[in-house]
Amino acid sequence: MKELTLILDEQLKPVFLRIAYALRHAIQTGQLTANEPLPSARKLATQLKTNRHTVMAAYQELIAQGWVESIERKGYHVATSLPIESSSLPNTNRIEQPSPFQWHLAEDLSENRLNKPAHKYQYNFAGGSPDVSLFPFKDFKSYMNDSLSRPNLDDLNYGNNAGNENFLHQIKLYLRRVRSITNKDIIAVNGSQEALYLIARLLLQEGEKVAVETLGYQPAWNAFNATGASLVPIKQHANGIDIEHLESLFSTGDIKLLYLTPLHQYPTTITLPIHERMAVYRLAAQHNVAILEDDYDHEFHYDSQPLTPLAADDPLGLVIYLSTFSKIMFPGGRIGFIAVDKALSPAIMRYRSVMNHKPNVLMQDAIGRWMQDGGFERHLRRMTKLYHQRRDHLIHTLEEYQAQGVSLNYHLPAGGMSLWLDIKSHALELEKACLENDVYIAAEHNFHLDPAKNENRYVRLGYAGLSTEKLTQGLGIVFSLLKSIQS
Ligand SMILES: Cc1ncc(COP(=O)(O)O)c(C=O)c1O
Repeated sequence: MKELTLILDEQLKPVFLRIAYALRHAIQTGQLTANEPLPSARKLATQLKTNRHTVMAAYQELIAQGWVESIERKGYHVATSLPIESSSLPNTNRIEQPSPFQWHLAEDLSENRLNKPAHKYQYNFAGGSPDVSLFPFKDFKSYMNDSLSRPNLDDLNYGNNAGNENFLHQIKLYLRRVRSITNKDIIAVNGSQEALYLIARLLLQEGEKVAVETLGYQPAWNAFNATGASLVPIKQHANGIDIEHLESLFSTGDIKLLYLTPLHQYPTTITLPIHERMAVYRLAAQHNVAILEDDYDHEFHYDSQPLTPLAADDPLGLVIYLSTFSKIMFPGGRIGFIAVDKALSPAIMRYRSVMNHKPNVLMQDAIGRWMQDGGFERHLRRMTKLYHQRRDHLIHTLEEYQAQGVSLNYHLPAGGMSLWLDIKSHALELEKACLENDVYIAAEHNFHLDPAKNENRYVRLGYAGLSTEKLTQGLGIVFSLLKSIQS
């Protein structure tokens, strides 16, 4: 009988499993074939410098799994019919390489243009990046500790699909006090992306239409497209969306849903003025169109109190309001919420269970305690002040470049975490050069629903995640690259 060459994983304990897995690997990779006799326990034990009982335990394990059989007086042999028919397959390294199986995907999205995430760049001007390093982890830890020391066992089971009760209650109080939103049910979600997908699946069918801002948020478009719905761009002008165009779109009777980012329009950060908000609501009511209002960075408003959301004045209950903790805390927390009319909330919760039984209640529990104690609002005040300073520093630095003769234009963002900068030309070329020089910025082409509308003159500069020193240094690189590209 041939001597086996077994690959033993020395890390694996106990030893009998180490031997069993090595034998199984030899069968799976074709070194041992169906029905082939195996060495006796004594012989294999001698070869492996172990004792006979350990090898017998390994064989017993493989017998239980169906890889090996034992016949009286004949000894052990590889099973006649194996649990899986993989012995004839080539020995592929299953961890490092894709397997040879041919996947036929029903859906596939284009690859991300980056080879590393934005925050890995030395200077990260990504529009939506908060300064995660300044999160009060120590303070928050005590609330996480409380959640774990006195766990809400009811919550940790299935059921309570809307989320942690105290978290929902705290959000409700907060929304009423700070954003004037009342009379809505609150549903916790694992980030607003989950909510976008959920609402899209619930409200849209193949062939239906969603009106979106012409410059906008691709992840939301992806969620709408996933339902087979099509996107209709609404024209934008310097102060927001073109109401006349919206009216003409609604008049066709085809639009089912309107997706808007009215407070800090994504990506231009323009605040939709009050009279336009009223016009949008009136038109939606008149044409029976639901509004999905994405208020992703409400708190970070600097020059005045932020305008109240559309959802705050919604007598017909047609506004679905989304918000997230990704900017307030950190994107990895995956916490967001939907505030929605009672007529729609049960259907949302029923449909959520198709994709996810419930949201992450442990984190919500800790946040609920943090909100109740006032820590959350202290953190918000601190970050709003800091981002305000960073915005002012960015403006000041841009003014200095303008004074040096660099041709720039921008609308002062009243809030948000980024600035939409008009560099007049070569935006894509600047983006490419910056990425090559370890600076992340995103040019206009990333945000266009209709690529033909790309004027290649805008870049989005996120400032919230960068200290004033890094802002200065990073902008130094951006503008020296711009100078060489445009000259
Ligand atoms: C328009 C918009 N909506 C929502 C989000 C937040 O998404 P999530 O809560 O899934 O992290 C972002 C983040 O960049 C955003 O820009």
